Amino acid sequence: MTQKIAVLGTGKIGEALLSGMIRAGWSPSDLLVTARRAERAEELRSRHGVAAVTNAEAAKTADTLILAVKPQDMAALLGELAPHVPADRLVVSAAAGIPTAFIEERLAQGVPVVRVMPNTPVLVDEGMSVISAGTHATEAHLVRTEEIFQPVGKTLRVPESQQDAATALSGSGPAYFYYLVEAMTDAGILLGLPRDKAHDLIVQAAVGASVMLRDSGEHPVKLREAVTSPAGTTISAIRELERHGVRAALIAALEAARDRSRELASGGNG
Ligand SMILES: NC(=O)c1ccc[n+]([C@@H]2O[C@H](COP(=O)([O-])OP(=O)(O)OC[C@H]3O[C@@H](n4cnc5c(N)ncnc54)[C@H](OP(=O)(O)O)[C@@H]3O)[C@@H](O)[C@H]2O)c1
Repeated sequence: MTQKIAVLGTGKIGEALLSGMIRAGWSPSDLLVTARRAERAEELRSRHGVAAVTNAEAAKTADTLILAVKPQDMAALLGELAPHVPADRLVVSAAAGIPTAFIEERLAQGVPVVRVMPNTPVLVDEGMSVISAGTHATEAHLVRTEEIFQPVGKTLRVPESQQDAATALSGSGPAYFYYLVEAMTDAGILLGLPRDKAHDLIVQAAVGASVMLRDSGEHPVKLREAVTSPAGTTISAIRELERHGVRAALIAALEAARDRSRELASGGNG
């Protein structure tokens, strides 16, 4: 049976998923999109050859509904959808910090909901999408969700109780690396390099280190030791990182991100 999939609220993340599905072999005729603005709907139609419909039409027609609106727009979207979503639809939410219970209690009894936390590298097919089942979601629903997110990177299943930790590591994760690159580029300037050259050196070090981490299967300590010769340059830098408490700062930073994710998930404004 052909499965129709609709992306509701097709912005940056929604469009990345849409183009990933098309590249992975989904027919554009089985994909639907919704948008708030007519010009955005037209842009998606002409760029991807998909039909743009209303949220209610998408809910009636598609087997899987991917909710990709911003968290603050979720309650309004669910209010619009609620009368039109039968219990045999799969609802996949990509909204940061919105618990499956929030969605389940706004839809008909028994609708399966899967929560996914992607990160921005989905825009370059190197994302990580962390997936959790809601109360009524089965193994088949999780597999269908993985098929949707795998074209834009990796997927990982966690119990929903671990989503706040996963958000701290993975959802916010790319930002920590951008921050490091920014700080290390400043260091390059202090050491007398032009900004563009410092930037290129650090970005390539980051790419090279990432590929080695991913592909060598080695523990990061081993990879670091391979660059750390006795009385050499690297150990002089590491001593300063330790002296300034960078490891402890990272642990505290991720703990703060986890706590903030919890606050947002419980509807708090902090
Ligand atoms: N970007 C990230 O880093 C990231 C990472 C992980 C998770 N997420 C989650 O992914 C979701 C989407 O993020 P994004 O960055 O793709 O946001 P975005 O670019 O703003 O996309 C959301 C889209 O939904 C549209 N929209 C809002 N309400 C609508 C409605 N009732 N009906 C139809 N369309 C509606 C918006 O229209 P307008 O264009 O008119 O505003 C916008 O085009 C968010 O919930 C976010 O938490 C994002």
